[in-house]
Amino acid sequence: MSDFWSAWIIVLTAISYVLLAWLLLSNRKINKPEEGATTGHIYDGIEEYDKPMPAWWIKMFVLTMVFGAGYLLAFPGMGNFPGLLNWSSVNQWQGDVAAAQQRNDALYSEFMRASVVELAGDPKAMRIARRVFANNCAICHGNDARGSYGFPDLRDSDWLYGGSAEQIAQSIHSGRSGVMPAWQSLLGDSGVAEMAAYVISLGDVSAATADRHRPARENFAVLCAGCHGASGEGNTVLGAPRLNDAIWLYGGDAGKIIHSIANGRSGKMPAHADSLSAEKIHLLSAYVWQLAGEES
Ligand code: HEC
Ligand code: HEC
Repeated sequence: MSDFWSAWIIVLTAISYVLLAWLLLSNRKINKPEEGATTGHIYDGIEEYDKPMPAWWIKMFVLTMVFGAGYLLAFPGMGNFPGLLNWSSVNQWQGDVAAAQQRNDALYSEFMRASVVELAGDPKAMRIARRVFANNCAICHGNDARGSYGFPDLRDSDWLYGGSAEQIAQSIHSGRSGVMPAWQSLLGDSGVAEMAAYVISLGDVSAATADRHRPARENFAVLCAGCHGASGEGNTVLGAPRLNDAIWLYGGDAGKIIHSIANGRSGKMPAHADSLSAEKIHLLSAYVWQLAGEES
């Protein structure tokens, strides 16, 4: 605040104070209080008596003014004058944050020393992890980590990029991006439809080896097996999903699978190295790791 505005506020506050005190004192006593005298004001036939204000009210008012003066001396209220206690909301907030930080630091460095397995078995750590997950991950993976269309379920033990503690930590730290090319122009409508039928049959070896799938099978070996594996078992290095199970990132009905093959897919897991501390990533890795463990 510039000196001018500071002075402006101080002067206005001081003048209001003096005016208030004057108003109070000038009304404290009525010169000649006569019994039954009225002010002359009449409303709806009701006349207003002319009586001094009650003493308890005046005393309260004086107390309030004394308190106000003390308050303005102690706390910042007069322009740039910081107050004798030197209190400020920013100072208080910073103090609170520093105190919380200190408590947290101690807690998190304890977490950092523990292994993923130890953390996963520590109910207090997992309670905190659940909150960190809710704040940072639930928006995409869901509060229950069950995922949804395009966002993987983190509770099943079917991993795009691997379910070891290190692989999970890597997914969180650096992010992931899955690149599935589009095949529409190469395969055409009927090629894509045949390929989708073959992909659906992958879960069942006898169906997959049936003669009617032969052209698609041969195409798959050339075009798809490099990423998804010869029998559709997936590849955690590339994040290519397993295709021979019943778990689908983008839906397992024929229409969705045709869409995946024809147009490609590119799921992105954002990197959290900048937004989350190493300690939090470690804690979350343990959390995600035990989520899947619970079920498998
Ligand atoms: C903006 C949405 C988004 C946010 C936020 C997000 N994720 Fe993800 N996450 C994804 C997507 C999409 C994928 C799949 C990437 C792909 O398709 O290749 C993924 C993949 C993952 C994987 C790999 C899963 C596997 O099967 O290998 C893990 C682990 C993971 N996320 C954990 C987390 C955690 C923990 C957080 C919170 C810190 C988080 N994610 C926040 C979208 C998100
Ligand atoms: C360059 C590697 C690569 C090649 C080649 C590739 N894919 Fe993929 N595919 C992926 C990746 C990575 C994903 C996951 C995309 C994501 O995470 O968003 C995927 C996703 C899919 C899905 C969706 C799976 C789901 O769970 O919803 C299907 C279906 C699929 N691919 C089929 C095929 C077929 C059929 C071919 C051959 C014509 C093929 N892919 C070739 C990498 C590849």
